[in-house]
Amino acid sequence: MGTEVKNIVLVGFMGTGKSRVGRLLAKRLGLDFVDMDALIEERQGKPIPRIFAEEGEPAFRRMERELVRELAAREGQVIACGGGIVLNPDNLADYAATGLVVCLSAAPDTILERVAHETHRPLLAEGDKLQKIRDLLARRQPLYDAVPHQVPTDGLSAEDVAERILALRRDAQ
Ligand code: S3P
Repeated sequence: MGTEVKNIVLVGFMGTGKSRVGRLLAKRLGLDFVDMDALIEERQGKPIPRIFAEEGEPAFRRMERELVRELAAREGQVIACGGGIVLNPDNLADYAATGLVVCLSAAPDTILERVAHETHRPLLAEGDKLQKIRDLLARRQPLYDAVPHQVPTDGLSAEDVAERILALRRDAQ
């Protein structure tokens, strides 16, 4: 038996299914579900596009950082992170110390299909969405790739992805 897996932390680019899969997993395991974006919105009393517009991205990254420190000190959660959590290596280090970190991935076309009709992501708000996804993904790819546990989600249902994460969790225990 290895060390106990306390939290499950889902990272990955926008539109890779972190929130949907996270909610499913939490239900299956009887753990608390925490959606970092939703919690930041609730605490700030405004949606993420307004936080970006009124306070700027660096302020949002600081909010994320503080929330990571808070959540990493707790147990029994499935945590869906915002896509930019990997930008600060301290975030991944804190989460790695507290649980199983899994990176979900998807091809740019799949991501586009999933986010095409949504308006709550300021980083994809203007211009050619597919090009933006490609550019941002290319820049961040090394950061996502550095996460030891990877689950590609193309062509998989949220249930399938949850199953794969459960298998990773069993192996890690
Ligand atoms: C971001 C991803 C978003 C949200 C914010 C910034 C990013 O979360 O935190 O818009 O930098 O990739 P989702 O990955 O849940 O869309």
